[in-house]
Amino acid sequence: MVDLSTEYMGLQLKNPIIAGSSGLTGSVKKIQEIEKMGAGAVVLKSIFEEEIAYEYSDFLEQESKSGPPQKYFDYDGHKNPIDFYDYIIRDDNLKKYKQLIADSKKSISIPVIASINCCYHSVEWISYAKQLEEAGADALELNMFFLPSNFNRSSEEPEKIYFQVIEQILREVSIPVALKISYYFTDLGPMIQKLSNSGIKALVLFNRFFSPDFDIEKLEVKPSFVFSSPSDIAQSLRWIGIMSQRVNCDLAASTGVHDGEGAIKQILAGAKAVQMVSVFYKNKIEYIQAVSDTIKKWMSAHSYNTLQDFRGLLSQPKTNDPAVFERVQFMKYFN
Ligand SMILES: Cc1cc2nc3c(=O)[nH]c(=O)nc-3n(C[C@H](O)[C@H](O)[C@H](O)COP(=O)(O)O)c2cc1C
Repeated sequence: MVDLSTEYMGLQLKNPIIAGSSGLTGSVKKIQEIEKMGAGAVVLKSIFEEEIAYEYSDFLEQESKSGPPQKYFDYDGHKNPIDFYDYIIRDDNLKKYKQLIADSKKSISIPVIASINCCYHSVEWISYAKQLEEAGADALELNMFFLPSNFNRSSEEPEKIYFQVIEQILREVSIPVALKISYYFTDLGPMIQKLSNSGIKALVLFNRFFSPDFDIEKLEVKPSFVFSSPSDIAQSLRWIGIMSQRVNCDLAASTGVHDGEGAIKQILAGAKAVQMVSVFYKNKIEYIQAVSDTIKKWMSAHSYNTLQDFRGLLSQPKTNDPAVFERVQFMKYFN
């Protein structure tokens, strides 16, 4: 009998298929469907600091049209109105998010991983974490990214922020914490290794980002295609393969896992779990069943009873050709 169960960041999952953070995991109804279709865990849609910032500026603009917000001066003699807007918007978003966590926990039995996404002000994350834990989240996934396009700072500066935030968050919460990262680091392998020693329980390799594209007729910038394709699995497969035997935390694969074969590859590379998003948008949530059926059939055909039986078999140190993970130029193939 094939057993798909896995332990990921200290949580017991009945299988390694995690519905990754997205609009599909932003309501209790959808989360219930995700559980019904057989996912091992769910990462809730992130609470976005960026979103709070945008909402905040919209809110201020609206209010400024209806005259000075005098009433808010009365609320607290020591607060200026800006402070108060900031306070109520943040509070409202957090309240809704905590409700989503609490309702999800009541409605499903698979682990619920809350997610915080921050692109701007690292300090803001810390105050959210404790509240998400109190709302009942089984774990926390931090999605941190600073686009390396600031020409006035050194490469060490944003990297330091990761460790500062992790340290502060780990002081605040006792639930397991995962960090979802990009591959935009000066020295990716050593950085992943250092992060894995920071006390977090898992690293999610890698996030996918919104990117710009061009409309060459209108001469305008437009959003590029949102969803990944199966070939996008290459980056995370390479890095999970290189890192899985060299880290002190679990690794989950994200980006380009579109089917059971993709999930099997990531486990062979050493992943404890896979996070899937784009393919659920394209094929509907029901597709989770097909993914787990493919894994089960493949395991039976290869006489593997548990994921542990084949996890990491094709990781860099264990494979027959470790050099292939380091090869980046196509020369040999063209010659
Ligand atoms: C429509 C959409 C919404 C997303 N929203 C979030 C989010 O709220 N938080 C987050 O950390 N990642 C978010 N992501 C990124 C996904 O969690 C995932 O890391 C990425 O899509 C790569 O996985 P995939 O190739 O299976 O799509 C989103 C992705 C998509 C396509």
